[in-house]
Amino acid sequence: MRSYYIHTYGCQMNGYDSERIAATLESAGMFSAASPDEAELVILNTCSVREKPQHKVESHVGKLRQNQINAGLPLKIGIMGCVAQQEGDNFLKRFPYVDFVLGTDNIDMLPYALNEIASGKRLSETAMYGDGKFHILPFERKDSVSAYVTIMKGCDNFCSYCVVPYVRGREKSRSQREILDEVKRAVHSGVKEIVLLGQNVNSYGKGIPDETGFAGLLRSVAETDGVCRVRFVTSHPKDFSEEIVRIMAYHPNICPCIHMPLQSGSDEILKKMNRGYTYSGYRDKIVAAKEILPDILFSSDFILGFPGETDEDFEHTFDAVREIEYEMIFAFKYSVRPGTKAELFKDNVPDEVKTARLQRLIEAQERIISKRYEKMIGAKLRVLADGVSKRGGNVYTGRTEHNRVMNFRSDSPVKQGLIVDVRLTEVKRNSLYGELNK
Ligand code: 5AD
Ligand code: SF4
Repeated sequence: MRSYYIHTYGCQMNGYDSERIAATLESAGMFSAASPDEAELVILNTCSVREKPQHKVESHVGKLRQNQINAGLPLKIGIMGCVAQQEGDNFLKRFPYVDFVLGTDNIDMLPYALNEIASGKRLSETAMYGDGKFHILPFERKDSVSAYVTIMKGCDNFCSYCVVPYVRGREKSRSQREILDEVKRAVHSGVKEIVLLGQNVNSYGKGIPDETGFAGLLRSVAETDGVCRVRFVTSHPKDFSEEIVRIMAYHPNICPCIHMPLQSGSDEILKKMNRGYTYSGYRDKIVAAKEILPDILFSSDFILGFPGETDEDFEHTFDAVREIEYEMIFAFKYSVRPGTKAELFKDNVPDEVKTARLQRLIEAQERIISKRYEKMIGAKLRVLADGVSKRGGNVYTGRTEHNRVMNFRSDSPVKQGLIVDVRLTEVKRNSLYGELNK
């Protein structure tokens, strides 16, 4: 087995895990295939947060099998990530042509799994670490201007709809030393932007007496030589404190945007979701943050059609989106997850109502964004350049401090990793356009 291909579903943490998986496979002498059809090993790094991604995995496995038969190839298939964690052995039983299943805490077992499957065995391992600390072994990164760094994983919040506490386990944090070493290594290999990852970053260090909390970690990362930008996801509204915003205000290299999911604007629904805050408590935190750092913008996730969500509940969500004026929203139709508390509630909002609410929310958000950016035409935005755009020629691409894609013209070459001030000239649905030299 020499060539591999990894399909990544879901969140940034899976993206980070896929980088670790790739690095492990390369240390074992394998190389990345240009397409799954050319690979001898295909790994699906899966997501189970909503039903749809889970279905996708199941149909994907079936397709891989079909291709394998058609091409007569000796393909090996591995399932990793959250569906693997949830299904474990079950997956081996249901899909006899799957060779291994490794859970979210078992990436380091990959070399062992490769040995086993090379001798024709099949295996499944989903054991999880306990609470407290966890470690990630150093790994080689691909060239990039931006790097994810996982700082904590798991979640102790048990929102009633969410499968994460079951598939990623209890909250566990890496030591600050291990994280800063990884940041320094990333910077050394050319990375300019560090994205700190955790299901609930504000809980970083909880339960580890000799660790600083998230605020201390954020400060240390921002002060590390060569770190030009820092972002972090995800913040839980219940644990979010002004201390973080003060550190952001003091360190201009921390991007002034925070992903802090509201999920619903209705207090009734928030209670049923077990979110631990009310809409007014959430809004007060945002108002206080804006007093400290006026440029700060927020992004949020929303679930539409949670059990019992009435038209009135939805109107509260709709009003919240208009009031907060988010920089970005991610909206999802509610989907029942096995083993969660909400599985016991009746999923009683019809699918077409969920769809209609989803569309209304997204349209409202699009209006807010086009208004915000139309007003900014002519202004200069700080962009971290990421090389020549797909259009080629003298058009470059990069990301603004608020993580929007900006395509911009420049008369002279713009090196990847440079931060430049780009004048905004045009606003389109998914990206911004600008000029560097005029
Ligand atoms: N149904 C729909 N959306 C969900 N999310 C989490 N669980 C569910 C579910 N059962 C959404 C939440 C979360 C995001 C990552 O996925 O909005 O913030
Ligand atoms: Fe899931 Fe809630 Fe934890 Fe987020 S905070 S991962 S939504 S349980």
